[in-house]
Amino acid sequence: MKINHYYNSVRTIQGENSLAEIPKLVSQNFSSNCRILILAWSECVFDIPAIKNLDEEGHLVQKICFQASNPTVDQLFDVYCQTKNFFPQLVIAVGGGSVMDVGKSLCCLYGKEISTADQLRRIISDKAYSTPKARWIGIPTTAGTGSEVTCWATIWDPVKDVKRSVESQENYAFAAIADSKLLENMPLGLAVSSALDAVAHGVESYWAKHSNLVSRQLALGAVSIIMSHIDDLLDGDREAFSYMSQGSMLAGMAFSNTKTTACHSISYPLTMHYQIPHGAAVSMLLAPVMKVNEPEIEKKELLFQALGVGDVRELGERVTDILKKGGFPTALSQWKVKKEDLDHLASLGLTKGRADNNPVDLTPEMIKGILEEIY
Ligand SMILES: NC(=O)c1ccc[n+]([C@@H]2O[C@H](COP(=O)([O-])OP(=O)(O)OC[C@H]3O[C@@H](n4cnc5c(N)ncnc54)[C@H](O)[C@@H]3O)[C@@H](O)[C@H]2O)c1
Ligand SMILES: [Zn+2]
Repeated sequence: MKINHYYNSVRTIQGENSLAEIPKLVSQNFSSNCRILILAWSECVFDIPAIKNLDEEGHLVQKICFQASNPTVDQLFDVYCQTKNFFPQLVIAVGGGSVMDVGKSLCCLYGKEISTADQLRRIISDKAYSTPKARWIGIPTTAGTGSEVTCWATIWDPVKDVKRSVESQENYAFAAIADSKLLENMPLGLAVSSALDAVAHGVESYWAKHSNLVSRQLALGAVSIIMSHIDDLLDGDREAFSYMSQGSMLAGMAFSNTKTTACHSISYPLTMHYQIPHGAAVSMLLAPVMKVNEPEIEKKELLFQALGVGDVRELGERVTDILKKGGFPTALSQWKVKKEDLDHLASLGLTKGRADNNPVDLTPEMIKGILEEIY
């Protein structure tokens, strides 16, 4: 029998209006004149009373707005330069995966003298960053990435055509606050693509080679919560945000221990070269990858049940329907991918740590077949 290990050190605070707990959380766990960097996806975050109050409680606060999606090495370097002299002790990242990934990366960079983006690129690729010199709190405003409960950050590098990762077991968030109130103004497309990203995290975590007893239960719970309420999301029911928030965090906790697999691995070049939003790219790959993986999925009936479908064909139809209702193209050709590029995209689809975590070993030829299925 396999021995199962699970570890995740993030304290989680979940529920509508849970953001109001921030001042108490900070005052009970950090010094009374703490240097706090607030990194936010929009200026409107700085007006939220619980955030605004931090200024008035004697803390030293620097506020920065980071609006870009899929942060690059150069953008991370830019925020590092703006904040390194302030040298925060606590980074509060309020935003989607992009903001949280920048916030958590910064914690591993302070204390190092980094003078160019190229030097930062080398530090990231050599994993030569420092042990975290600041703690961070993740407050998601999208419901998909689960970055608030994972210990790695995705930093994109279009200059070198790769996706990089700042990763450290010591850099789990001090806390994650999942307040569904913050999700309510998401445009439908963002809500749908981030929900589908979370579904992919759950599904891939479930079948990952590195899955364990705890992660599998978290994964099934996450997939079931999201899939059974996603129609309400599409119908504009605001109650659905609460379920998306819960499911996304649970999926994050599942894949924090297992990482993802082939869908994510194959999706990265699609996002990098064709700007297909991450959640749309990974979800299009769910059914064709599941078709390949099916013989190796332990208790696959539980996964189908959580997804609310009977088989792989139904899964493909369900994802297509959700993407359409979210306003997304549903095939690579509609995303303007050129047929003659499929070989190249397939050759880029074997990302280390993702593809080799897939229950079935894939070759570039198999990936090309998968891409053709969604062309
Ligand atoms: N670290 C991890 O564990 C992990 C996991 C999955 C994905 N990621 C990364 O996360 C990034 C994607 O994150 P994402 O999908 O959350 O999107 P995002 O953070 O890139 O946000 C997308 C856009 O929506 C805006 N936005 C954010 N919240 C909003 C809101 N409530 N209302 C309106 N607009 C809002 C942002 O400013 C941005 O322009 C990618 O870089 C991906 O690689 C990280
Ligand atoms: Zn993802």
